[in-house]
Amino acid sequence: MNLIGIVGTNSNTSTNRKLLQFMSKHFSAQAQIEVCEIKHLPAFDEPEGRQAPQEVQELCEKIAAADGVIIATPEYDHSIPAALKSVIEWISYTTRPLINKSVLIVGASHGLLGTSRAQAHLRQILDAPELKARVLPSSEFLLGHSLTAFDEEGHLVYADKVQELDEIFEEFRLFVKINQQLMKEHDFKTEQNKRFSWETASQGGRF
Ligand SMILES: Cc1cc2nc3c(=O)[nH]c(=O)nc-3n(C[C@H](O)[C@H](O)[C@H](O)COP(=O)(O)O)c2cc1C
Repeated sequence: MNLIGIVGTNSNTSTNRKLLQFMSKHFSAQAQIEVCEIKHLPAFDEPEGRQAPQEVQELCEKIAAADGVIIATPEYDHSIPAALKSVIEWISYTTRPLINKSVLIVGASHGLLGTSRAQAHLRQILDAPELKARVLPSSEFLLGHSLTAFDEEGHLVYADKVQELDEIFEEFRLFVKINQQLMKEHDFKTEQNKRFSWETASQGGRF
């Protein structure tokens, strides 16, 4: 299984990056997880001709080719960081590779709550018609006290959290497979979502 992990911040010292790097090593027997950075991507603007910068296109291509996506988000002011929101705006404005893609949300914070509010926001965002990601339901991985969560080799030192992560990752792998099967068998209006436009959306419509 080929997954990509998006580091949801432009911070150089991110513990969310450490979490994804740990997952990439820890789950290497079950999946290949390529950790992708967003810190080099420009802030979203509405480009003429909807042409995204090359770096954005490269990320979109990786998402399109992957079996699933893991997004690790910090929490800033009860929501996701602006840098992550900007990338999601690029994704929704251009080739929309998250449509029907399996997504696992995880998050790490320095405090106790482990990004619970940011994750709830991210779920809502990923439900927009141009994103329409298939987010693993009813399971959250919240890593609090993330500054002391990793040792010098990058291992997650909280045994209870490693166990939780093992369980949710196994659930996600099954979810990816079931979702792929579903998408093969049914047309979930993917093309309709790819063409969706807020300019022409009707007020009483589903969106
Ligand atoms: C601007 C700003 C706002 C923050 N807001 C919250 C918040 O609402 N809730 C929270 O638990 N932590 C908050 N924090 C603390 C973050 O959890 C922590 O600084 C860090 O971003 C965790 O992610 P990282 O290690 O990947 O950078 C905030 C930090 C910053 C810089």
